[in-house]
Amino acid sequence: MDIHHPSLSEREPALDLVADAFGNPRARRPAVRAAVLTDPDYSAETTLLATDDDGEVVGHLATKRSAIALDGEWLSVARLGSVCSAPNRRRRGIGAALVEAAAALYPDVAAIILNPAAEEYVRVFYETLGFRAARRTIGCWQVLAAAVPLGEPLLVRAARAGEAAVLDRLYVDHYGQRNGSKQRTAAWWDRRIAGEPLLWAEMTPRTLVAERDGQAVAYAVVTDDDDHRVWELAGAPDGATALLSHEAVRHGDRFTVAIDPHDPLWPLVAVCAPADLSPEPGIVMVRAQDQGRLADTLGRVLAGRSASLGGDHRTATVTAEGRTLACDWTELLCLVYDGSVLAERMEAGAVQAESNHQALWQAIFRARPATRRMTDAF
Ligand SMILES: CC(C)(COP(=O)(O)OP(=O)(O)OC[C@H]1O[C@@H](n2cnc3c(N)ncnc32)[C@H](O)[C@@H]1OP(=O)(O)O)[C@@H](O)C(=O)NCCC(=O)NCCS
Repeated sequence: MDIHHPSLSEREPALDLVADAFGNPRARRPAVRAAVLTDPDYSAETTLLATDDDGEVVGHLATKRSAIALDGEWLSVARLGSVCSAPNRRRRGIGAALVEAAAALYPDVAAIILNPAAEEYVRVFYETLGFRAARRTIGCWQVLAAAVPLGEPLLVRAARAGEAAVLDRLYVDHYGQRNGSKQRTAAWWDRRIAGEPLLWAEMTPRTLVAERDGQAVAYAVVTDDDDHRVWELAGAPDGATALLSHEAVRHGDRFTVAIDPHDPLWPLVAVCAPADLSPEPGIVMVRAQDQGRLADTLGRVLAGRSASLGGDHRTATVTAEGRTLACDWTELLCLVYDGSVLAERMEAGAVQAESNHQALWQAIFRARPATRRMTDAF
C-alpha cells in the first residue's frame, strides 16, 4: 500500500471510491463532481489516497486546517472528512494508516477533529486510534408560520457573489464565541452563495440577506427540502425578524429553525411558542495533537472558569479551590467542549477526581450545548 496526495488522474477514481464506500450516489453526479473537484478547500495538497500495488485507489481522506471556538478562544484543529477504504479491502489497516498520515500533515495543531458517520463501528474505529467522543447538541424548533411576528419591512434578498467577507463577519460576531463554532473559509461562503450542489446532502441551501440602509445586517441559510428549514440565522434582531417573517410568508404553514436557547436570537423564536424537534445529542470525535498548543488554549479557557491547568506530556491536571482533577489531554478537551459527560467519565475511571467534589468540577466543566451549526455539514 502507498499513501500519497492524489495525482490529477486519481481524483475521479477517488470520488468513485467515496461513492462506493459511503453508498453515496451523489458523488457520481457530474454537477457534484465538477463542484467538488474545483473546490479550493478540497485540493490535492489536503487530500490523501491509499493505492494498492496495482495503483488502484483503495482509500481516501480529506483534511482541512481550521479552528473551533471554546469560550471565545480559537483552538487550532485539523478536520478530517470522507475517510473511507474500499468495501472489499476493509480491516487491513488502510483506514488507520490514512488517519495517521493525515495527522502527520498537521503536527502543529492542538487537536484533530471529525464528525463520525452514524454507524457504531465507525466510532469503534476512531476509538482504537485514540479519538474520544465529545457531545454535540443540535437545536431544531418548529414554528407555525402564522405565529411569526411581522417585523419592519426590511429588504430581504439572495446573498450576492463577493459578499463572503460580510457574511463571515456576521457569522463570527454571532456564533464565533460559542463552543464548537468553526472558522469558515472564503471558498466555503462563495460556494454556498453560488448554491453549488452538495456532496453530502440532497438539499439546495440558499443564503438570504436582510438589508438596512443598503447594509447587510443579518442572514439566514434556508432550504426548501427536508421540511423547510432555517438552518442558520445570524445578525441583528431587526434583520433576523425580517428574514423569519419572509420565510413565514413563503411557507404558509410551519417550518423549522435550527437554534438553541443560548442563541442571542432565541427570543425571536421563543415568542412563536415553538415545538422542540431537536434530535438526541450527537458526537464529534477529537484527539489531542500538539499537547503544548492544546494546553495553551485550554489553560486560557480554564483560567476564565477560575481553574488552573498543569500536568505533563501524558496527563492534564486541573486545580480549583485546592482540589485536583486529572485525565489525559483528549479527555480534557471533551470535558471543556461539553461537560455533560463528566459524571459518566468519572465513573468509567477516565477522569480522576474525588467523587465528593463532583459539584465543584461540574461547575467548571459546565453541561451546555457545544452547538455545531447544522450548515457545517454542507
Ligand atoms: C471506517 C473505515 C474507514 C475503516 O477502514 P478500515 O480500512 O477497515 O480500517 P482499519 O483496517 O485500519 O481498522 C483499524 C481498526 O479499527 C477497528 N475497526 C475497523 N472497522 C471495524 C469494524 N467494522 N468493526 C469493529 N472494529 C473495526 C478495528 O480495531 C481495526 O483493527 P483490527 O482490524 O486490527 O481489529 C471503513 O470501514 C469505511 O470506509 N467505512 C465506510 C465509510 C465510513 O463510514 N467512513 C467513516 C467516515 S467518518
